[in-house]
Amino acid sequence: MGFMLFLLTLGILFNSARAHVAFERGIKSCTNIKPSHVPGAEIISIESEEKHNFTVFASSPFLLQDISNLSVCEVNVTLTRTNAVDKVLLQIWLPLNNWNGRFMAVGGSGWAAGLGDLSLAPVVAQGFAAASTNAGLSGDPVNPGLWALKDNGKVNWDLLTNFGSRSVHDLAIVGKATTAKYYGVAAKYSYWNGCSTGGRQGLVAAQKYPNDFDGILAGSPAINWVEYVVAEHWPQVVMNEARAFPSPCELDGVVQSAVAACDELDGVKDNVVTNLAQCKFDPFKAVGSKVQCDGKDVTITQSVASIVSKIWDGPKTTTGAHLWYGLPVGALMDYLANSTFVNGTRVGNPFFVSDTWIRYFLEANPNFDSSSVNSAELSVLFSESSRRYAEAIDSACPDLSGLRKSDGKLLVWHGEADPIIFPQGTIKYRQNVERALGGAAKVDNFFRLFLAPGVDHCGQGLTPGAIPSDPLGALVSWVEKGIAPDMLTAETSPNAPAHFTRKICRYPLVSKYRGYGDPTSLASYNCVEGY
Ligand SMILES: *[C@@H]1O[C@H](CO)[C@@H](O)[C@H](O)[C@H]1NC(C)=O
Ligand SMILES: *[C@@H]1O[C@H](CO)[C@@H](O)[C@H](O)[C@H]1NC(C)=O
Ligand SMILES: *[C@@H]1O[C@H](CO)[C@@H](O)[C@H](O)[C@H]1NC(C)=O
Ligand SMILES: *[C@@H]1O[C@H](CO)[C@@H](O)[C@H](O)[C@H]1NC(C)=O
Ligand SMILES: *[C@@H]1O[C@H](CO)[C@@H](O)[C@H](O)[C@H]1NC(C)=O
Repeated sequence: MGFMLFLLTLGILFNSARAHVAFERGIKSCTNIKPSHVPGAEIISIESEEKHNFTVFASSPFLLQDISNLSVCEVNVTLTRTNAVDKVLLQIWLPLNNWNGRFMAVGGSGWAAGLGDLSLAPVVAQGFAAASTNAGLSGDPVNPGLWALKDNGKVNWDLLTNFGSRSVHDLAIVGKATTAKYYGVAAKYSYWNGCSTGGRQGLVAAQKYPNDFDGILAGSPAINWVEYVVAEHWPQVVMNEARAFPSPCELDGVVQSAVAACDELDGVKDNVVTNLAQCKFDPFKAVGSKVQCDGKDVTITQSVASIVSKIWDGPKTTTGAHLWYGLPVGALMDYLANSTFVNGTRVGNPFFVSDTWIRYFLEANPNFDSSSVNSAELSVLFSESSRRYAEAIDSACPDLSGLRKSDGKLLVWHGEADPIIFPQGTIKYRQNVERALGGAAKVDNFFRLFLAPGVDHCGQGLTPGAIPSDPLGALVSWVEKGIAPDMLTAETSPNAPAHFTRKICRYPLVSKYRGYGDPTSLASYNCVEGY
């Protein structure tokens, strides 16, 4: 033990000594940085520039506060894949001061493979050298219209493949090589960090490029893309077939009744359904109750309850077979079951990801009206989506033996009130990995899942659950000190109606109140097998 510690200390001294020497010799220059060869790609240009004391301004929902006092060497690498028509921009930010010796690739959101400045700033502020790629796409997270189809009207497979997986590997190669060139020493540890699409990309790295990162943090991952994205359209189909478009506020009225009824199944009244498995609330029980919408009392009708019931149940074929999961109880309805007024009447307002997936990739027709889709048609779209695109973008291969072999660590977390990406899909993935790799205990050595009750998509704080405070810190301790996380500490958002902290336990354990002590403090909870 003493000897190991000694070696470890020596290693650190040695490394910092080297970094120091590199600096003194002036190798740390922000010009003339050439990353090494990128397999299967050709570098078109490299531009770099020192930027001092600048600010990246907040842009909701991706960056919630301004980040100032940034000083970096910015390197832009533009490359093209061999045999592909694309032009990919990779942005690498190398802190001029206080580099922490680590590299981090950061992921994208929605239809963007990377968010550039918005995702680089917060991690560079923590001392990481960081990199982001646009994968050759437009960078617009909301609309893939500028790149999804080629001029001949066919799906752009070059760019879909970039988005699906290969840009993740290029980012690791270019980002790590650029970091090493600049500092004169390789990063000691490399990380992936992303949520949503960024979470999906992290899992792509775990599945396909297991040697790229020492640690992968994947939040609310958009895996099972070919299934869940079509399933996101189900609430629109339900409303369409009911010929009724209640306001999201009315639908959320039923959700509130369910939350109230199931709140204390875990023994704690906190406005959060923590014991989701035991929550069997019948939405028809909410009929006749009142909810405030636009300052008016609205009575929940049979029709509204029926719509919520089907949304929770999830998409089905015309013969009643389940296609995918429904929204979990507690998730807000306004994303997937949204509607809007046109000439004084409410009409469906499909969610942008499912709407554009259907229009561009399944129909190859930007003018297709997805709001007309019925359940029979949705079943067909569901199987077409799998048949044509699973290979390119499903990102749910359970064989993580490569990651296990490379000694990489994967930390996945998902909010259990996610209104966009069904957390049940992430649980299913973890179970598939257990099945593929010989059981839960073996998987826990390198892949841990954390489910956060009452938390929305990527922890924006719109629902009242406690959001993991520092999952990255937990991953870093796991990778660098071998401390495998059994729980994540979590805290409610500053906007939450009530403040509390909580333990988020490693799946499949749950956080249970001890029965004494302050129920708003995480110290009063234990990770146990059931409530
Ligand atoms: C890198 O690309 C970004 C995004 O296009 C641009 O704003 C920035 O000025 C570029 N930096 C350099 C050094 O060329
Ligand atoms: C950094 O920029 C801020 C304004 O954004 C300015 O107030 C501050 O003086 C600058 N610091 C240095 C060291 O230039
Ligand atoms: C700004 O960054 C520099 C260099 O990293 C640091 O020395 C300084 O303390 C920072 N200033 C503020 C106000 O955070
Ligand atoms: C729901 O639709 C309205 C009207 O188009 C829009 O303003 C709102 O942003 C949508 N809500 C969500 C969560 O997308
Ligand atoms: C709304 O009403 C106007 C005037 O009657 C009509 O011209 C327009 O087409 C209508 N819009 C839609 C989307 O139905």
